[in-house]
Amino acid sequence: MKIISVVGGRPNLIKLAAVHKYLDKKFDHLILHTGQHYSYKLSEIFFKELKLPKPDFNLEVGSGSHAYQVGKIILGCENYFLKNRPRLVIVYGDMNSTLAAALAASKLNIPVAHVEAGIRSFDRSMPEEINRIVTDHISDILFSPTSIATQNLKKEGLGKVTIECGDPTYDTFTGVEKGLKEDYYQRLKLKKRSYYYVTIHRAANTDSGQRLAVILEALRGLKMPVIFLMHPRTKKMIQHFNLKKRLNSPNITVTDPKSYTESLSLQKFSRAVITDSGGVQREAYFLKKYCITVRENTEWPETVESGWNTLWFPQKKPFEDILKMAKIPKRYAKFFGNGDSGFKIAKSIKKFLESR
Ligand code: UD1
Repeated sequence: MKIISVVGGRPNLIKLAAVHKYLDKKFDHLILHTGQHYSYKLSEIFFKELKLPKPDFNLEVGSGSHAYQVGKIILGCENYFLKNRPRLVIVYGDMNSTLAAALAASKLNIPVAHVEAGIRSFDRSMPEEINRIVTDHISDILFSPTSIATQNLKKEGLGKVTIECGDPTYDTFTGVEKGLKEDYYQRLKLKKRSYYYVTIHRAANTDSGQRLAVILEALRGLKMPVIFLMHPRTKKMIQHFNLKKRLNSPNITVTDPKSYTESLSLQKFSRAVITDSGGVQREAYFLKKYCITVRENTEWPETVESGWNTLWFPQKKPFEDILKMAKIPKRYAKFFGNGDSGFKIAKSIKKFLESR
């Protein structure tokens, strides 16, 4: 039975890694890369590190406006699906690639499975929120990562096609957890638990010069060293708004994005994590690290309600004031499953296809 997974880049690949090894045993599983992420550090390095096979085909769509990316990916997917005639298409997360592939498949009447369904920030100004809502409503099986996500889907009338299976990013994390190393922060001359791990890349934070300047100033105000793993979008926008000077501080080290295990290793030995990424918020939780999320909302409310994560905008208090007041919670709940979601997803897909 032929099935196709469609991926666009880094966040999709971490989820694919959890399900691929089980899908590969049960199906003729093809991987279609859209080319939304094309930089080595946002894509190829993850294939290598997560031991994923090379994609069967790459649409090489690259960067562009949302309409350009979504439009090109729909056309490319349609062509590829018609040639390969899969029994099912799997999409992951909330990238433009996710939405476009789901649209192409559903218009061809090919069933769609959405991995990481039901998460909501309830902020429709985020491109990812639109991608999530539309993808969930045109998919045939929804793999929800948490009980909150399942509730969201039920409220939208999608309970019947929802299967709660845990978070595949937790599976992938448990696979590398033991190998996380101290070398990485040592090489950067940082001291254990005496530096902050930072990533910022969301459109809402990078596409307004004023807002980006506020964030960079706040980072400059930190008294401990900062390791800032900079996404190419952020680098481009800092240049565009002429904000490079705001990073002038002996405390701030800027690097390119890091591989999956290097990034997790740097988080593990940090004092705290400052981010706007949905993936990093969860990784901080997996590692029991306190997290400040540079956003007004989050699609992972359990991390905030449990006291491990705090939203920073719009209060604009210095980060260190928040960190000084933060109490590390004594309780730690397993919101994200048991690390077996990849197995559950593959099993459910098999059952779904056999019943048709
Ligand atoms: C996308 C996802 C976001 C995810 C993020 C992880 C959407 C709407 N957003 O955002 O949810 O958290 O991926 O990285 O799909 N660029 C490069 N090299 C690349 C890819 C992008 O330099 O390989 C630069 C380009 O200047 C590009 C910009 O980054 O214009 C934004 O890339 P894009 O694919 O539009 O979205 P991300 O910001 O990566």
